[in-house]
Amino acid sequence: MEASTAEHLKRQAAASALGHVQNGMVLGLGTGSTVAHFLELLGNRLLTSELKDVVGIPTSNRTTDEANKAGIRLIELGDSSRIDLTVDGADEVSPDLDLIKGMGGALLREKMVAQSSDRVLIIADESKVVDWLGTLSPLPLEVVDWGIRGHVQFIRDWGGKASVRMTNNGEAFKSDNGNLMLDCRFSGGIKEPAQLEAELQARAGVVESGLFLKVADLVILGTDSGPREVDRKP
Ligand code: 5RP
Repeated sequence: MEASTAEHLKRQAAASALGHVQNGMVLGLGTGSTVAHFLELLGNRLLTSELKDVVGIPTSNRTTDEANKAGIRLIELGDSSRIDLTVDGADEVSPDLDLIKGMGGALLREKMVAQSSDRVLIIADESKVVDWLGTLSPLPLEVVDWGIRGHVQFIRDWGGKASVRMTNNGEAFKSDNGNLMLDCRFSGGIKEPAQLEAELQARAGVVESGLFLKVADLVILGTDSGPREVDRKP
């Protein structure tokens, strides 16, 4: 997919997500280029007072900057007893609406905000849809740097290959929390995502994984024929 087409479809999904935002809502604000469109469009609606009294909880320094620029009032996680709706992007979306997230490096805060939300709405262009998780995107893991080679071996035992994410400057990428990211590639996809997630959650030194299973309630995909909403099946 050409970059300009992808941007158009991301914006389409972001614009459609605005239809789920109501006055007075507390919103979780995800991270990434699709969310950036949503923040800009939300800011416009607040500026024209088509939407009022909306506050956001950002999941990254990047989103904090973009939301501030868009004029969205921000609070922190815990300032409100509830989050009505979180709007976030994804790197992969499976037919069951399970996700891989974290290529933007914000998966820990994204998962923390998502699990405190009444509803989680994912916006993405249709190229993110996969038949099986792990076939398009690597699986990102946020890890502490001490003992990192143990996680590389653990992923190898799962048939994958983990590499430390680097910046364009050739330095190890650090998340907003100061941790490293391991990007894990699995040829043919992740065989048993739920089992892998359970083992990662039990594994000391893995701060969080980019498997977001049963997290999304609704996905809006930007497609050539217009936005397509897919609800989680009960
Ligand atoms: C950040 C994420 C992003 O939501 C994900 O990487 C999708 O980003 P984009 O909208 O730029 O494709 O998980 O940690």
